[in-house]
Amino acid sequence: MTEAVAYPQNRTCPYHPPTAFEPMREERPLSRVTLWNGREVWFVTGHQAARSLLADQRLSTDSTRADFPMPLERAEPMRRRRRGALLGWDDPEHNEQRRMLIPSFTLRRADNMRPRIQAIVDQLLDTMVAAGSSADLVSAFALPVPSIVICELLGIPYEDHEFFEEQSRRLLRGPTAEDSEKALELLEDYLGKLIETKRTKKGEGVLDDLVARQLADGRPDHQELVQFATILLVAGHETTANMISLGVFTLLEHPERLAELRADPGLVPAAVEELLRYLSIADGLVRVAREDVPVGDVVIRAGDGVLFSTSMINRDGAAYADPDRLDWSRSARHHLAFGFGIHQCLGQNLARMELEIALGTLLRRLPELRLAAPAEEIPFKPGDTIQGMLELPVTW
Ligand code: HEM
Repeated sequence: MTEAVAYPQNRTCPYHPPTAFEPMREERPLSRVTLWNGREVWFVTGHQAARSLLADQRLSTDSTRADFPMPLERAEPMRRRRRGALLGWDDPEHNEQRRMLIPSFTLRRADNMRPRIQAIVDQLLDTMVAAGSSADLVSAFALPVPSIVICELLGIPYEDHEFFEEQSRRLLRGPTAEDSEKALELLEDYLGKLIETKRTKKGEGVLDDLVARQLADGRPDHQELVQFATILLVAGHETTANMISLGVFTLLEHPERLAELRADPGLVPAAVEELLRYLSIADGLVRVAREDVPVGDVVIRAGDGVLFSTSMINRDGAAYADPDRLDWSRSARHHLAFGFGIHQCLGQNLARMELEIALGTLLRRLPELRLAAPAEEIPFKPGDTIQGMLELPVTW
């Protein structure tokens, strides 16, 4: 095995796995990486091994365990104090929490939102086009689409978006531990107060449904409800926003694939799936082994940290022929961009729907869409957070 590479690494190109991970292609399914504190952990890069390990309950997401590997120094102090809902818990508690939310995230519920998502997308594009012939697509479109959608779904006033977008940004990207912690406090405080008001004045959102449920049978309790609201709000807009911005950038950098989509809009759902695989924006899922887990001829020992590189996993040649090629005709559906196993993304139906409508409508309405700056000068996110574009100057 080659010497353990430092983790995380910045991507060299925003839509490819970091070049520093290249040598690990030969080592699939497992390599080693070194974290900020010098600790070495397993680095899963093989598709089949990833599916079986992510489904294996001997691996835990409990971030309060002393042996849980924190990939970022800034997340270290937070994990001792608390763990968020869902992602921080193993079964049976995780299952109990998830069951309270599942009715709000079915395929049918996402489908019912289709006309409203289309209206939001149309309106944002109307405003953008009326303002001129160029824009930063991140602030004008990629961020507001999922932000408005998640607000309406949860029952959070969108007027407060600048506040919560800023806190999510600080929570996910720091720059310091104190900063992330403060942002989490502000966000939880805001959501706690909002939930209080919903007890007397019921609205239509998922949080209102959960308040009603709480009044009826005591669960979720107030703290759980605040934590549900926090994870849903943060996960619900940051991720999809990055998929839209990086998805558009990637399409504009692949004119042939873009032309295929323009010629046949029926390909959009397949393109969304393939972009999810190709871009793997949530690149680095974290677990710790509770027991020894054999993988082929090695053993992940109890207490070992395990990181999953979704970008490497989703480019495994054993799972996808010619994996570095963007290809709308392949079957990309079994990618791990939404994770796998009990923590597989709760919002994936909604995310797919938003991406299909946002990308499909953008391409239809702006046939001349192109980058307004040289591709190599457009800034993208560093490797220690969800991947995406920081800005996306476009013209049409
Ligand atoms: C393209 C957009 C999205 C991507 C790529 C994405 C990715 C992921 C991934 C990889 C996980 C699993 C993490 C792990 O196992 O460690 C996850 C979990 C989760 N996601 Fe998403 N997500 C997206 C959109 C959303 C949306 C729109 C929502 C909410 C409406 C959401 C809510 C959640 C929640 C609540 C979990 C935790 C589930 C659990 O622990 O049971 N996500 N997501």
